[in-house]
Amino acid sequence: MKKRIAVISGDGIGPDITFEAVKVLKRVAERFGHDFEIVEYLAGGAALDAYNTPLPDSTLKGCQDSDAVLLGSLGGPKWDTLPSHLRPEKGLLGLRGGLGLFCNLRPAIMYKQLSGACPLKAEVVGEQLDIMVVRELTGGIYFGARGSDEESAYDTMSYTRAEIERILRKGFEIAQKRSRRLCSVDKANILSSSQLWRAVANALCAEYPDVELTHLYVDNAAMQLVRNPRQFDVIVTENMFGDILSDEASQITGSIGMLPSASLREDSFGMYEPIHGSAPDIAGKDLANPIAMILSVAMMLRHSFGMEGEAQAVEAAIEAVLDQGYRTVDIYSESMIKVGTKEMGQRIAQAL
Ligand code: IPM
Ligand code: MG
Repeated sequence: MKKRIAVISGDGIGPDITFEAVKVLKRVAERFGHDFEIVEYLAGGAALDAYNTPLPDSTLKGCQDSDAVLLGSLGGPKWDTLPSHLRPEKGLLGLRGGLGLFCNLRPAIMYKQLSGACPLKAEVVGEQLDIMVVRELTGGIYFGARGSDEESAYDTMSYTRAEIERILRKGFEIAQKRSRRLCSVDKANILSSSQLWRAVANALCAEYPDVELTHLYVDNAAMQLVRNPRQFDVIVTENMFGDILSDEASQITGSIGMLPSASLREDSFGMYEPIHGSAPDIAGKDLANPIAMILSVAMMLRHSFGMEGEAQAVEAAIEAVLDQGYRTVDIYSESMIKVGTKEMGQRIAQAL
């Protein structure tokens, strides 16, 4: 199959981990006989340095003309003092909004090889943890009206029924393919947008009789995630709640360096990125864990290209390398073999 992939390596450790992910992509192409055309674009801090904007038109256009986007990470202290419309994060929001990527999948999986890294007690977390956070990504307070003057500032959380319905449908459909349990998270005791959210969820329920729908307020959900994470399978929620809960879910797996994400719309197009940040302190030092980025490649193969076998091969290669005891420093534990970014990428490519 021929596919065009827009690659934005970004800032900080972005280029380090992207290099390894591209290595793995090339190996997949070779082994399975695909033709992946990789085209690089700038966004975030790198684009600010080169073009004075965090999202050049040429980048958005290049992504639109591709089959999928692979993104490293954006941002860093160098650009932190810029006004908010010029911050690297604006580039990320511009990509999400501009590409219409309303559905963000953030799997939080605890790998059995790394179960010792989970900060919760073994009896709380159990043998396995596999939670899917489905986060609405192009609405809510991130994209609502905002304003400020010297004395006051405001941001608006607003949602339309259509926006709520399309993300909830994704939640139901994903739950149907998993344990058929869907937990919708809101703040319907306070927020109007959450009351609409809950009403839409309850109305949709009839169309998915095989799925058991529950509701939690976001504060309770945050507590339940550490109290008894095993009660969750698929969580669906609005943009900001999903931002917060997905960081929490990632930490209970013990290894934020291991978690990928997919940002999708109705067609097969998607943008894939690790959920961790740009970690500028370790950039270029061969210390970053490339696994979240390589797992993002697997998600791209699966969701955008329909290449389930290829995706599983990448995931199996990662597990094989972990089984052999290789660890980057963030997931290192005693008696394991410490390797850098490059060696980890190389070993995964070889295992393929
Ligand atoms: C994330 C990040 C972004 C967000 C930031 C960098 C804008 O935290 O992808 O979770 O808030 O969505
Ligand atoms: Mg976040």
